[in-house]
Amino acid sequence: MGVVRQLRQVDADPAGIDTAFRADVRAGLSDARQKAVPARWLYDTTGSALFEDITALPEYYPTRSESELLKRYAAAIAEAAGPGRAVVELGSGSATKTPLLLAAIDPAAYIPVDISGDFLRDSAAALAARFPGLAIYPVEADFTQRVALPREIAGLPKLGFFPGSTIGNMVAATAVDLLRDWRAALGEGALLLIGIDRIKDARVLEAAYDDPAGVTGAFNLNLLERINRELDGDIPVENFAHRALWNDGEARIEMHLVAACDMAFRVGGRRYRMAKGETIHSENSHKYGPRDASLLLRAGGWTPRMTWDDVDPAFALILAEAAEERVAP
Ligand code: AVJ
Repeated sequence: MGVVRQLRQVDADPAGIDTAFRADVRAGLSDARQKAVPARWLYDTTGSALFEDITALPEYYPTRSESELLKRYAAAIAEAAGPGRAVVELGSGSATKTPLLLAAIDPAAYIPVDISGDFLRDSAAALAARFPGLAIYPVEADFTQRVALPREIAGLPKLGFFPGSTIGNMVAATAVDLLRDWRAALGEGALLLIGIDRIKDARVLEAAYDDPAGVTGAFNLNLLERINRELDGDIPVENFAHRALWNDGEARIEMHLVAACDMAFRVGGRRYRMAKGETIHSENSHKYGPRDASLLLRAGGWTPRMTWDDVDPAFALILAEAAEERVAP
């Protein structure tokens, strides 16, 4: 079967500039209280490659902990999911964990959904070589928006795969909206295998997001390079520093870009100012205790059925089932 075709569901204006990116940057840099840019814009081709480098850092445990769980519990996951499902992966990126799942469960189709089209093409081709009998339908789309799934998989039972604690990028209200949308999209009888990072010692968390080799810093600063490149900006990137901090009240790691001096710059013809010490908030990475994770899933229309989390540093892999619409109690 191999790669059947790649669907593209991304808006671009006639000049080829991603309209959503420009709108988010304009609004985010204009906010007088706290400048902020949504984290999804970190993942252009360079950013996605830098994130892959992050996953290999000794300090960045989530990828290792989650892969360990997938390996350890592959048989249990396969038994719970059964064969013949269409696996829909949200934010597949380079899809390095996917073979662990696909090899275990005997799926009917694989639908990677990712905003980075080039990355999607490469990883789909690599998986097609590894699983020659599998039908692969890549969808280039922002999985936080409504995504149309390929017609060919309409009748198949679905298994949503949402690894990496990507759900942690969203504040709770947004995470719940996303879970509910995907509950509706994946349909009755669907399962969701989701990776969620645990709350733990702040030093372990902060080290994971501020490595001494500076890879996470480069990943964060690439956002400014991308703005300059794609939105005609002149941001002095050398005057910014990477900062990662644990916000205990919000139970999240925050990444910021800190201005080292007073400055002014232009993006797409508009002028912005920043004072020394002011920051652009570029990413949240929320962490969840066992009951937090359970409540989040239930609020999103999914009933947790199994949790695997016996790894160090802690990380949870949760298998949930699409909840039935009902009036309760
Ligand atoms: C890809 C969103 C799961 O939050 O841990 C890693 C992104 N940012 N280091 C995370 C990230 C900085 C990562 N996610």
